[in-house]
Amino acid sequence: MMTEPLFDSAEFRQVCGHFPTGVTAVTAVATDGAVAALTVNSFTSVSLTPPKVLFCVATSSSSFRVLMESQRIAIHILSQEQEDVARRFATSGLTGPEKLGGVAWVPGPDGVPLLPATPAVLAGRRDEVITSGDHVIVLLDIDHVHLKPSRVPALSFYRGRFVAPNADIAE
Ligand SMILES: Cc1cc2nc3c(=O)[nH]c(=O)nc-3n(C[C@H](O)[C@H](O)[C@H](O)COP(=O)(O)O)c2cc1C
Repeated sequence: MMTEPLFDSAEFRQVCGHFPTGVTAVTAVATDGAVAALTVNSFTSVSLTPPKVLFCVATSSSSFRVLMESQRIAIHILSQEQEDVARRFATSGLTGPEKLGGVAWVPGPDGVPLLPATPAVLAGRRDEVITSGDHVIVLLDIDHVHLKPSRVPALSFYRGRFVAPNADIAE
């Protein structure tokens, strides 16, 4: 049996927020052609062979239905020049097409929206979905990757803020 935690969800979020992460933009297209877009920092690579990654999504997200009925999902690892995309895709109340309205994108395989300005992109099909609390863990089988040479460092998220890592990177 679970014991009641001695902290509230704001404190839990604050503590987890001390773990610095990258920031991704997840896009998806459902079998009926509906699209979704949301900002996600729960991305993790899982398996090299076969290539699998995961991310977690809130069951309350308005993107949830499209993600669960998706025929293809793309994960864009955002650069510091794409903070506006991260902010837009994190805005609740905008539906998929509205969210994409202010962002440059092209239709990829099966019509999944791809953001060409992104330095690193992975795309694939939904594998297992594991329900855990108020989120689901979505596992993806990756069948497409794309790298765009860039010296711009990744966008990061730390303690509730977008931050710029102080990195000098080669192309
Ligand atoms: C940096 C950052 C990371 C986020 N990571 C996640 C995440 O991993 N999973 C999630 O469900 N929501 C995450 N969110 C919140 C969603 O992006 C936000 O709720 C978005 O509006 C969801 O879109 P929708 O619910 O309108 O589809 C994150 C927000 C930010 C700013």
